[in-house]
Amino acid sequence: MSNATGSGRVVIVTGAGRAIARQVALDFAREGDRVVVVDMIEERAKRTAAEIEAASGTALAVACDVRDEMAVRSMVEQTIRTFGRVDVLVNAAGGYTLGRVTHELSSEDWDMVVDSNLKGIFLCCKHVIPHMMKAGGGRIINFSSNAGRTSSPALGVHYTAAKAGVLGLTRHLAREYAAQHILVNTIAPGPALVERNYEIMSAEGLEELRKDIPLGRFAEPSDLSAAVRFLAGDGARHITGATLDVNGGYVMV
Ligand SMILES: NC(=O)c1ccc[n+]([C@@H]2O[C@H](COP(=O)([O-])OP(=O)(O)OC[C@H]3O[C@@H](n4cnc5c(N)ncnc54)[C@H](O)[C@@H]3O)[C@@H](O)[C@H]2O)c1
Repeated sequence: MSNATGSGRVVIVTGAGRAIARQVALDFAREGDRVVVVDMIEERAKRTAAEIEAASGTALAVACDVRDEMAVRSMVEQTIRTFGRVDVLVNAAGGYTLGRVTHELSSEDWDMVVDSNLKGIFLCCKHVIPHMMKAGGGRIINFSSNAGRTSSPALGVHYTAAKAGVLGLTRHLAREYAAQHILVNTIAPGPALVERNYEIMSAEGLEELRKDIPLGRFAEPSDLSAAVRFLAGDGARHITGATLDVNGGYVMV
């Protein structure tokens, strides 16, 4: 860990080892926040943290599978030991399996996807919220998906159900902790040009998908990062329980 410039908020970003959440972590750090980079793959967490430190930011890499309550508790304890507080929690971690119709889906795949995308958010919130309450407030930003707004044939019923669950969890927490000044919102990204979509789709499939996006392009990680940082910032101080769709018009609700 370096202590070069960070003097701002303490921000935990889960899934920050690559793609969208990596960009979120880099951008918070560039703006002077101290970032806890969480990923279940340790090398990825360390790589993002090293990028932040190379740019004179402050980061702590923590290997943590958000499905595992002991690991989440220990990640939050490490954060408090290192930085003393948590101001912002960004829950972006989540796994996926490639499209299986429901009658062929294994219960193991169901558990992995629902636990990593939904239970993991519950666990991170559960262990962070007491610290936010003690500090007098905080911001939580949860990642859903356009799949949570509609459905995801490419990723399956477990992904759709988990991402729809994130919307309900967010609304519930927003009401439950409003009096404690903990604001809880959802980002629902549309298709982004990141590693997972190259893993899921062919070049032709991606091009077909692109044509269905009214703004004519995929989301960049920086589009999602800007929305997350808006919800974490002063301009969003009267927004809680909301879902911000960042999808180029792909799904309009
Ligand atoms: N990429 C897209 O087009 C897209 C679209 C809609 C929603 N989303 C959502 O946005 C978020 C980020 O998507 P992405 O494509 O950048 O992510 P990704 O699939 O590249 O995963 C990011 C990181 O999460 C980590 N991770 C996975 N399961 C974990 C677990 N149980 N504990 C800790 N870390 C774990 C992975 O190791 C990986 O490094 C996800 O919640 C995803 O569902 C993405």
